[in-house]
Amino acid sequence: MAFLQLEQLTKTFPGCNAVDHLDLNVDKGEFIVLLGPSGCGKTTTLRILAGLEIQTSGRVVLDDKDISDVPPERRDIAMVFQNLALYPHMSVYENIAFYLKNIRTGKAEIDQRVRQAAHRVEIGDLLERKPNQLSGGQRQRVALARALVRSPKLFLLDEPLAALDAKLRASMRSEFKLLHRSLNEQDSCAGTFIYVTHDQIEALTLGTRVAVIHQGKVVQFSPPKELYQKPHNRFVASFVGSPEMNMITGDLEMRGDAVSFLFDGLRMPLQARGVQALGRLHQPVAPVVLGVRPESVCLSTPAAEGAIPFEILTIEPFGQTNFIRLRASNHVSISSLVSPDLSYTEGEVVGVSFNPDAVHFFDTQVGNNILL
Ligand SMILES: Nc1ncnc2c1ncn2[C@@H]1O[C@H](COP(=O)(O)OP(=O)(O)O)[C@@H](O)[C@H]1O
Ligand SMILES: [Mg+2]
Repeated sequence: MAFLQLEQLTKTFPGCNAVDHLDLNVDKGEFIVLLGPSGCGKTTTLRILAGLEIQTSGRVVLDDKDISDVPPERRDIAMVFQNLALYPHMSVYENIAFYLKNIRTGKAEIDQRVRQAAHRVEIGDLLERKPNQLSGGQRQRVALARALVRSPKLFLLDEPLAALDAKLRASMRSEFKLLHRSLNEQDSCAGTFIYVTHDQIEALTLGTRVAVIHQGKVVQFSPPKELYQKPHNRFVASFVGSPEMNMITGDLEMRGDAVSFLFDGLRMPLQARGVQALGRLHQPVAPVVLGVRPESVCLSTPAAEGAIPFEILTIEPFGQTNFIRLRASNHVSISSLVSPDLSYTEGEVVGVSFNPDAVHFFDTQVGNNILL
């Protein structure tokens, strides 16, 4: 049985289903990321887990115990809030010690645990300061230490890096990863994390598995690599990956063994993978949305066989790659990432083809990936 089970969790606010029959199973020691756009129900899910919000229906089972109706202080779950929620009038030491004092832990033990937690997140020398005497990153560490000191069964983290600038966010991200690893090395599977973010880079870099949430439901729950390479539907395909996956509406056509993608009067021959898709569609011509990531859009000059001519509109140098926007004669636009060593110019016409192993097909109705 999974360490944490969310079963058909639902929370209805007047006029809004914030969480909608959400299922999720988490193993001990995992680093799970809940990823989704603002308003999709991430915070509400965490608050239900912590016991701060009562679910409308559904169950939360932690370590074989149904905790759906257990009050927050008896759940053995620590939450780091988006706004950190430090007590401004208390020192760092008192902030970290607060929970232990409340449950009447002995002074000596409090002292030892506070110092250990502070040491772990490298704020051992800041214990006498007040929160307003700390930088954003240091406040973040205090909030973490406050969770660590409890040695909880589960850590909940709600967009913990959202308030930090980009550089600090990247370095704190690595620290979360190291912290999770060190907790689990020290005491096998001591650190089970549920981490909420709307930032797909954070999700892909941190999660052992990522649950993509859309309108209160989990729409895919996969390891990061699979999320990127095998998106189950259009929503996941568009939300994960930057720059965004190209989506082109058209028709798949099969003649004998030859498969082509037709869009706006153009015909692009495709390699074998499309055959499988057509087999599932049970029709020789089927409307689809073709999805292809910019790094899988190949450019050629002169145009390779079967490539479609596109005009280069703009070239944006990203450093290690160039981001190129292109337009076909019929105004279909796509983007491509290519090595800066390849010297293209704006206004030039190039051949465009797609890496056949990296093309996705989504049905035009609900957007499911028809190759999976
Ligand atoms: N206390 C509340 N009362 C009414 N609606 C709420 C409340 N909390 C959240 N919501 C609504 O529930 C939806 C999900 O919110 P939330 O869980 O905060 O999303 P996220 O954290 O993914 O941005 C939103 O539409 C939000 O407006
Ligand atoms: Mg939120």
